[in-house]
Amino acid sequence: MIDKIKEHIAEVEKFTTESKEAVESFRIKYLGKKGLLNDFFAEFKNVPNEQKKEFGQTINKLKKTAEEKVNTLKSALDNTTAETGIYGDLTRPGEATNIGARHPISIVKNQIIDIFSRIGFNVSEGPEIEDDWHNFTALNLPEYHPARDMQDTFFVQTNPDILLRTHTSSVQVRYMENNKPPIRTISPGRVYRNEAISARSHCFFHQIEGLYIDKNVSFADLKQTLQFFTTELFGKSKIRLRPSYFPFTEPSAEVDVYWGLETEADYRITKGTGWLEIGGCGMVDPNVLKNCGIDAEEYSGFAFGVGIDRIAMLLYQITDIRLLSENDVRFLEQFKSAL
Ligand code: DAH
Repeated sequence: MIDKIKEHIAEVEKFTTESKEAVESFRIKYLGKKGLLNDFFAEFKNVPNEQKKEFGQTINKLKKTAEEKVNTLKSALDNTTAETGIYGDLTRPGEATNIGARHPISIVKNQIIDIFSRIGFNVSEGPEIEDDWHNFTALNLPEYHPARDMQDTFFVQTNPDILLRTHTSSVQVRYMENNKPPIRTISPGRVYRNEAISARSHCFFHQIEGLYIDKNVSFADLKQTLQFFTTELFGKSKIRLRPSYFPFTEPSAEVDVYWGLETEADYRITKGTGWLEIGGCGMVDPNVLKNCGIDAEEYSGFAFGVGIDRIAMLLYQITDIRLLSENDVRFLEQFKSAL
């Protein structure tokens, strides 16, 4: 009998498990009401007197070993499940996902696309490396036309026919060559000019071109469209159209939006006037329509081109245009909450 109890002690010492249920059935087997220990204790009265002492000591040892085993297994399991159970500690705060930020130019570009898509404009794009025809000649800027000097052009290598587009107006030409009126399209994109880089100007920036060609399109349609656009974008509706000159439109105007002078940045960005020039516009010159294969007797239309960078600077109070292309994460991170 004593040997049998000793075998149990060895068994208890060896026992190990990682499951709470197994610990519990182990406890019941030895220490439960109908467990082995109680059976052995009940045997006590049948043990001959001279063996009683050793028998008693052995059962007590079994009891102690079993109790200790249950306690250590239980506490080990309690600690591990708290930390590494399948789902871990469900009350722990979640880990934040590190989301990126959209670039302010993209944010503003998408807003403008959204506004124009609500009044039936689609989006079109053209290449950044252009030829002379699409960037200049078709837009009523023939070779040696003095207005070419207004846009300091980067030529690609030594070929004077291939250049980095100086404006998105080149996309107007491509669109008219490939589509029949009625046309309502906007063309966002990057443009390049050989200008000294400063806080206010850069050698590349972004424009959105707009083109509307149909029968009986008038200057009033142009003005109303620009009015709608600026009201939607800025929440401010005061604009002015200053007479101007562009070879591809007649008449032509420059578009200013009244922004106000509430902050230091407003002063700097609007040169202290409160007015921001956002781009140019006008009625498409009949010559341009002809160059693109559209009957200028039947159709007329308007076009405009606005600078995205300036608008982004005003909306986000950015006082140095260079920040838009430096890719400094401390700057870019600030746009995380914007769409
Ligand atoms: N392309 C002109 C520029 O970059 C802007 C412009 C003016 C675009 C008048 C137009 C327009 O479509 O009608 O300075």
